[in-house]
Amino acid sequence: MSGPDNPDRRNLLAAAAVGVAAAAGPAVFGGTSASAQSSDNAGSKHELSGKVAFITGGARGIGLASAVEMAKAGANIVLFDIATPNLVPISYRLSSEADLAAAQAQIEGLGVQCISYKGDVRNLADLQSAMRQAVDRFGRLDIVLANAGVGHAGAIDGVSAELFSTLYETNVGGYMKTTQAAVPHLRGAGGGRIIYVSSGLSRTGNDIFGVYGSTKWAVNGFAKSAALAYGRDNILCNVVAPGLVRTPFADNAAVLGQMMPNASNPTFDAVSEMIAQSNPIGVGHVEPEEVAKSVMYFTGEATDKMTGEVLDVGYGAAATSVA
Ligand SMILES: NC(=O)c1ccc[n+]([C@@H]2O[C@H](COP(=O)([O-])OP(=O)(O)OC[C@H]3O[C@@H](n4cnc5c(N)ncnc54)[C@H](O)[C@@H]3O)[C@@H](O)[C@H]2O)c1
Repeated sequence: MSGPDNPDRRNLLAAAAVGVAAAAGPAVFGGTSASAQSSDNAGSKHELSGKVAFITGGARGIGLASAVEMAKAGANIVLFDIATPNLVPISYRLSSEADLAAAQAQIEGLGVQCISYKGDVRNLADLQSAMRQAVDRFGRLDIVLANAGVGHAGAIDGVSAELFSTLYETNVGGYMKTTQAAVPHLRGAGGGRIIYVSSGLSRTGNDIFGVYGSTKWAVNGFAKSAALAYGRDNILCNVVAPGLVRTPFADNAAVLGQMMPNASNPTFDAVSEMIAQSNPIGVGHVEPEEVAKSVMYFTGEATDKMTGEVLDVGYGAAATSVA
């Protein structure tokens, strides 16, 4: 049962690489209970007052959760999202215009200002126009979260040229263009932070997420080069690399079916449980709010002198890495 060709073993290994990740709940990690959140907020309140944060893929998931955390800390927010549910050849639905509008309303409900922009990170002009509007409205730009991404699970052989291009143009090209559009404004503010959302799949090979995972290896490399290129401008560039996260990106039939091919109707929780079996601390995923707290780390004082870092939000995956 444990030979290299055994599909269960292969899936377990692949899943472990995606998501040797956490969410044992508040009792273990202490960060998600209502009381813990309110005390966190009390501690960090106004830490980002007067700052402006630009978030790609901000209509939902990790982007929105990060926007919420930054807004709670007092930042004004710009949400940028493609807001186009059906994007060929992606096999799950992306956000809608209604999602983007609801995200903006949620942020405004936190007492900060928020603008939303429907645009595509594959298009540099969209990003430049959105950032110009942000600076016109708020006078500055301080924090950029390069987060908009698309995924694909399946054998390398089955990745069409169109899918290959979409994955690379979004996940790699989009992050590069976000950086290019942001840097002049961050320089104008005397420096700032760029945080790139990568993945635990940027740390290891993976035969289910081979092409997608390779885009995230590219993200880490690009972020380190950006850290070198812009360090003297006081623009700090760091990476957050999560394991499996409960968002529509992972919680969809195409991905879950690849991760548990022997199950007739796999659920996100079933996949998480499968991952938890091989996780060193017995957990199988993280929630977007947990990733957002690591994003926040790279916006604050604690990381004033850190650049080119990759922070694994893998809750144990790093323990199996070679270095
Ligand atoms: N969910 C996971 O398990 C997981 C794990 C590790 C890393 N990640 C990474 O985290 C990031 C955010 O993922 P998520 O889980 O929140 O996914 P998500 O699908 O919930 O959110 C992604 C957002 O990006 C937007 N988007 C997609 N393509 C875009 C484009 N071309 N231009 C502008 N916006 C676009 C979507 O509309 C959506 O709102 C991605 O880069 C993903 O690769 C996710």
